Amino acid sequence: MQSTLAIIKPEILKKGLSGKIISIIEEHGFRISAMKMVHLTKDQAGRFYHVHRGKFFFEELTQYMSSGPIIVMVLSGDNVIERWRSLMGATDPSKAKEGTIRKLYGTDIQRNAVHGSDAPETAAFEISFFFSKMEIENGS
Ligand code: CMP
Repeated sequence: MQSTLAIIKPEILKKGLSGKIISIIEEHGFRISAMKMVHLTKDQAGRFYHVHRGKFFFEELTQYMSSGPIIVMVLSGDNVIERWRSLMGATDPSKAKEGTIRKLYGTDIQRNAVHGSDAPETAAFEISFFFSKMEIENGS
């Protein structure tokens, strides 16, 4: 069993579309093991996206991710990191395949609707950034 962190990004909440994304997640059989809404400060967004510090888009990214509330979730299941990335689609919505969330709901590479961890180590960091063990369903 694997877990990953999923984020529904600010523009989706502003547009009132978070329920649509949650429905897609459930329809595809993902188990939501934890979920909450948070509004990050710019500093917290920078700590979450620390691997991108120094890149040309870092300033814009942290500005954007702290511009409004987000929904963070732990998704669990076999091969969930890859399966969630596949359902999200390519980072740039204009390059995402038909039927993916970013193709359906993304605006541009910055406002690309959703986030997902890219590897088990990243998932462990990202999940513990937002959730304590007590907040995550343990499957029992
Ligand atoms: P995400 O999967 O959340 O991981 C890092 C984010 O940086 C990415 O989605 C995009 O929203 C954002 N970003 C902005 N510009 C770029 C870019 N040129 N390349 C990659 N990611 C970018």
